[in-house]
Amino acid sequence: MGNVKSTAENAANETVISRRMPNPKLVDRVLAPIRQQIQDLVVSTGKSSKGGPKMMRVLDVACGTGDQLFRLRRDNQIDYGLGIDLNPESIQYARERAQAAGLVLYNDDNDNHDCLEYRIQDLQDLQQQQQTETDNQFDIAMATLFFHVVPWPTAVSLLMTMSSMAPKLIVAAFVPGEKWQDKLLLWLDQRFTSHYAAFCHYLEKGSFEGLLQECDNCLEVEQVLLTNDATIRIYVLRSKAFVNGQGN
Ligand SMILES: C[S@@+](CC[C@H](N)C(=O)[O-])C[C@H]1O[C@@H](n2cnc3c(N)ncnc32)[C@H](O)[C@@H]1O
Repeated sequence: MGNVKSTAENAANETVISRRMPNPKLVDRVLAPIRQQIQDLVVSTGKSSKGGPKMMRVLDVACGTGDQLFRLRRDNQIDYGLGIDLNPESIQYARERAQAAGLVLYNDDNDNHDCLEYRIQDLQDLQQQQQTETDNQFDIAMATLFFHVVPWPTAVSLLMTMSSMAPKLIVAAFVPGEKWQDKLLLWLDQRFTSHYAAFCHYLEKGSFEGLLQECDNCLEVEQVLLTNDATIRIYVLRSKAFVNGQGN
């Protein structure tokens, strides 16, 4: 096909991200078993750190309602959690919920490092910011159900950026189900979203496994976990940038 791009690819590059927040309580309830699996992985990473158990700094890209970091901080399992999302409504919800539960939110006026920080930010700025801020290292960088939402080239560059920010990545991502019923349910779930074109392109490129192939020089797979949803898997990845105990 030479350099003729597929229709899905052209459409996907023009994806418009929805600014509407889906019902946050419903989303968090549906994803609760997956959040728990991720929480367990974070805790076991902390326990098995070199030099003994440690409390950690965790980055959640496209954090949505902020629920994953909320649970970790509420249960005193991380020191600092940074959640980034483009959607102001989601970030507002995350901040208000954390505050209502008595959790400390980051604030420019204090130097408290044991806190949660939720930022409204386009992740496309993260790479540039990573190059200019020295303070941007984490123990774990995570993302849940994000890479099918953005155009493929953005997904590739963001996954690479995440690999330069933390030695371990935990990603929950869609995979095409094996049974036709799973495929149909996934299609119905995505068909009427504003990122449907990006989702189609993501499947066409091999979903998260395809993304990993593109980032082969940055990341290696440590573990792949099944979840209660046949179309979602959790990938635990090691960043090659930190193999000798160093970042870049
Ligand atoms: C399917 S939701 C997943 C949210 C969350 N990770 C969860 O598990 O509930 C995808 C999220 O990606 C966010 N998003 C999409 N593109 C983004 C971008 N360029 N920068 C920051 N956030 C983005 C959306 O606002 C949305 O909250």
